[in-house]
Amino acid sequence: MSRSLARMLYYRARISRWLGLRAAAVRSCEAALRQADYIKAYQLLAAMDLPGESYFRLMARIHAYLKPATYVEIGVDEGESLQIVLPETLTLGIDPEPRVKQALTPRQKIYAQTSDDFFATHDVLAELGGRPVELAFIDGMHQMEFALRDLINLERYCTPRSVVLIHDVYPIDEKSAARERQTAFWSGDIWRLVVLLRRHRPDLVVHTIGAWPTGLAMVQKLDPQSRLLRDRYPSLVDEALAMPLSALDGRKKETLGFMPNEWPLVKAQLDRSGGF
Ligand SMILES: C[S@@+](CC[C@H](N)C(=O)[O-])C[C@H]1O[C@@H](n2cnc3c(N)ncnc32)[C@H](O)[C@@H]1O
Repeated sequence: MSRSLARMLYYRARISRWLGLRAAAVRSCEAALRQADYIKAYQLLAAMDLPGESYFRLMARIHAYLKPATYVEIGVDEGESLQIVLPETLTLGIDPEPRVKQALTPRQKIYAQTSDDFFATHDVLAELGGRPVELAFIDGMHQMEFALRDLINLERYCTPRSVVLIHDVYPIDEKSAARERQTAFWSGDIWRLVVLLRRHRPDLVVHTIGAWPTGLAMVQKLDPQSRLLRDRYPSLVDEALAMPLSALDGRKKETLGFMPNEWPLVKAQLDRSGGF
């Protein structure tokens, strides 16, 4: 294992990509990652599979387009994704260890709790002044059952016009999709949630937008009355954890309901929610 060899292979990948030799670029990235946990090799692999704007740029477009009156963000970390929220949007941010650097706007509130604790101790409707959740972003713990519980908890406060975004749903390889973090570039196994939702909740509309670096799921047609995920939670988690990543081999995009990260496509899909 050698970091300098990984760096050399990464630069070889960049040159191959620049020359239009995609397969060679992918092979060099993969060889780099066999040498070391070299995040730039992951980022380049992701860029080749998910061309276009990053999830930040896409989320900024979604906020600007939907102009949500209310927004709930699970996992705020340093507050980068909070910076793109419109000042007029009433925002709840939830993170047990928030490290937000910027000053919050008067309409933004951070709760230093896990999302499970937050939902157990707060009435979200009351926190939002009696309004439903219009837009939400699940970006907390990178293990599927946490994201599943976040979705179950959020859906109660949604309407069929709400949109829930879920980060890190497009896995790159076994290591970066592991449930326990092994790599600097880490999506965890949130992809399993997308497979579950598409399998068991056909009433929901679930797409995986190819937003660099790890994809962004967009969930629509939410049903605050639905009990299915809550009632079947233990068996759904068992089912999800039994899915190997190889189940996506050769049909990853189809299984995850892939949508290219092209704004006209995403905008048209958002329009199908009907807006508030
Ligand atoms: C990837 S960061 C969020 C990044 C942020 N959304 C952004 O895009 O700028 C993930 C965050 O989830 C938080 N987190 C971990 N477990 C959590 C939990 N159970 N509930 C809520 N947040 C959690 C971590 O503290 C971390 O700050």
